[in-house]
Amino acid sequence: MPPALDTLMLVFSSDGELPVSVPERGLFLGAVAHPALRDWPSVTGWQPDKALADAWERAGYVRIDDLGNERWPVVLVLPGKSREETLAWFTLARDHVASGGTIVVAMPNTAGARRFEKLLAQATGDVVSLQKHKCRAFRATNNGGFNESVFDEWRVGMAPQAIPETSMVAQAGTFSANRIDPGSIFLADHLPRTLHGSVADLGAGWGYLSDAVLKLCPKIESLDLVEVDARAVACARANLGGHDRSVTYHWHDVTTGLPTSYDAIVMNPPFHTGQATNIDLGRRFMQVAMESLNRDGELFLVANRQLPYESVLESSGLEWRIAAEDKTYKLLFAKQH
Ligand SMILES: C[S@@+](CC[C@H](N)C(=O)[O-])C[C@H]1O[C@@H](n2cnc3c(N)ncnc32)[C@H](O)[C@@H]1O
Repeated sequence: MPPALDTLMLVFSSDGELPVSVPERGLFLGAVAHPALRDWPSVTGWQPDKALADAWERAGYVRIDDLGNERWPVVLVLPGKSREETLAWFTLARDHVASGGTIVVAMPNTAGARRFEKLLAQATGDVVSLQKHKCRAFRATNNGGFNESVFDEWRVGMAPQAIPETSMVAQAGTFSANRIDPGSIFLADHLPRTLHGSVADLGAGWGYLSDAVLKLCPKIESLDLVEVDARAVACARANLGGHDRSVTYHWHDVTTGLPTSYDAIVMNPPFHTGQATNIDLGRRFMQVAMESLNRDGELFLVANRQLPYESVLESSGLEWRIAAEDKTYKLLFAKQH
């Protein structure tokens, strides 16, 4: 559970410093389940991360993907990582809080909570806050005095933005939203042009690698993009529209496995959960990929050189090798028998 979530829920505790009454209905942006939400008559979650979205639903709560024009008496916000994303989520909260309603945000101090509290105050006027668990929760009420020009400035981050030197777009908060990831460029530069048949890109982001693979390998018949972040999937759809081969977009958590198998899998696997390094995530991607190769299927994986992925290949029994490397990256290749 994110540490800021406990702090967020303290705002609704009757003996707390900032008591806000539990509303009849609330909207939760970046929804993550918490035991205290059980006492709420109704709370609806919006969550672009598929793994967290599934966990929210498993906990028994309602989820929506499209926020529409609905307004809510309380909007909770548990923002993501980047500045643009956080400000875009403040704007989403502004757009969906009812007149007289309250926006409540919580963030870890290490994510710049105090700075973001000040920014929200610029847009809303009055903000009150509490600190607990090395996090900060702050709330603002929509009393008619919001500074709309500040929100308008932040609203830009809600729409996908052009990525320099490409004809592609990415949205704030998605992986490498401002530039093509150099690791993916390394993979594309060293990929054999012979890939064929059915191919998957695991952790496909906004689609750079998928697009490159389709352009480089004419014998590919179909490509599945698999990505946990709904916003990245939406950008990938916009970015890959022009290909003549079958491309399918899956909003899916790779760690849960894949429903089908492939002639080739390419990937630049994640190795972070939130801000923290998580090597096991990359290793789990590898296991899932290796289980999902057809006979003679091939895996191409790019990683930072220091990431200890070779042991996973070694214990897999597959034929494998380092196919290319430079001072930063390595391209690992494995083949199913
Ligand atoms: C290193 S990035 C590579 C992105 C993309 N292939 C590119 O070249 O720009 C890893 C991607 O994996 C996604 N990801 C993280 N955890 C995931 C999961 N459990 N299932 C599917 N995708 C995941 C991230 O959102 C991110 O887009």
